[in-house]
Amino acid sequence: MSENEIIDGGLEVLRYPNPTLKKKSEPVEVFDDELAKFVENLFAAMRAHDGVGLAAPQVGVHKKIAVIEYESKSYVLINPKVIEQSGSQDGEEGCLSFPGIYAHVTRPEKVKIETYDEHGDKKIIEGEGYTARAFLHEMDHLEGKLFIDYLSNLKRNAIKKKALKHTGGHF
Ligand code: NI
Repeated sequence: MSENEIIDGGLEVLRYPNPTLKKKSEPVEVFDDELAKFVENLFAAMRAHDGVGLAAPQVGVHKKIAVIEYESKSYVLINPKVIEQSGSQDGEEGCLSFPGIYAHVTRPEKVKIETYDEHGDKKIIEGEGYTARAFLHEMDHLEGKLFIDYLSNLKRNAIKKKALKHTGGHF
């Protein structure tokens, strides 16, 4: 194990426009030690990058798994489904796959989500405000949907140009 693995779980966060971010993830079917270890590594990678959330496809794993940590509360989302949502909020959003890039996205104000934890136990979790935004942002990743998909073509193209500049235009 390298020093890097200890700090960031040995996971590399992929950046837009890596095409893997647009791929839909598969449901988790086996809840074993390997899954628990992966969830732990996902938290480590998220914290190493000062993120509020991180989804498995952002590290190249196309399984319906995401982690969120906000206001010292941690959430594990596995095979999550929105069962209730209400209200609307408009706010600024960023993403670890888009370093330095933020955009306004409208989302529901409150959500209730049915999910599984890493041990296979079904949970109902509720989020409001920024927590709701984080849940929905991460759940979008599991469907291959990115926050810039909510923007106009004009705004999306401007972000694409900025992102290409960051990566040296290799994609
Ligand atoms: Ni994101």
